[in-house]
Formats: sequence, structure tokens, C-alpha cells
Amino acid sequence: MFAFGDKEGQIVTPEDLPLGGPQQLAYPMDPVAKIVRNGSTLNLAALIRLDPTQLTDETRPLAVDGVVAYSAVCTHQGCTVSMWQAQAKTLFCACHATQFDPRDRARVVDGPAPRRLPMLPIKTVDGVLTVAGEFTGRVGGERL
Ligand code: FES
Repeated sequence: MFAFGDKEGQIVTPEDLPLGGPQQLAYPMDPVAKIVRNGSTLNLAALIRLDPTQLTDETRPLAVDGVVAYSAVCTHQGCTVSMWQAQAKTLFCACHATQFDPRDRARVVDGPAPRRLPMLPIKTVDGVLTVAGEFTGRVGGERL
């Protein structure tokens, strides 16, 4: 399960994620111990609900019902990817204006980031969004 990044302890449900974005920033939460893994910002994830038919074939298997989760730590210099470009439907890092496409494994669309945001595989258990595996790549910016 996930807990909101700015509302500690409050569980994120699929209904909290508006279809088509923006993202919600959230920390993974241990479902048994109810411990929020917020000790490091490297755990911070960006959750977005998209039309499942718009996800690429490489993205869909790691998503659930159109909900995708990515590291929210920019791969450029580690800023939090907290902004959303509504028209382009891209995750936006305001530090140096990198845009990532959440429909395509967070591919870099524009800006200086050297690589995609790592994806966090997710699933639902009894309707609750849950982590299903490790990030697909190294989390963090070039200097982290
Ligand atoms: S830290 Fe995100 S674009 Fe530079």
C-alpha cells in the first residue's frame, strides 16, 4: 500500500488518483506493520492513473488498471518530480524542466535528465494499491 507524501499515514486508493493525471506523491507503506517508508526521499513515488489503452506494451505489465508508479526523484539532479504538464500529460521536474512520459516507462521527452524515471511495479490486493516489486532501475539523480 501507499501513503500520501504530504498526509502521513493516509492510504492512497485508486479513487484518489484522477484519470489522466496529475500524479500524487506517495511513500510505500508496509501493509502489516503499517509503517510508512518515508525515511528517505529515494522511496518517494509518483502515482498516476491513466487510460490503460494509452500505456505502451512495456509499461502495461507493471501497471494495474491504468495506474502507474514511478520514482519521483529526478534522474538529472535529484529534485522531486512534483509538477504535471496537463496538455502534454507529462511528469515535469521544475528544477531544469525535464518532462517524462508516464505512458512509456517515463521516457525523457524533453530536458536534461539523462534517463527515464525508474518504474515501480504495482498491483492491487483487495482493492488496495500495493508494491509488486523493486524499482526497475537505480533511483536518484546523477550525483546521488
Ligand atoms: S533535477 Fe530534474 S531536470 Fe534537473
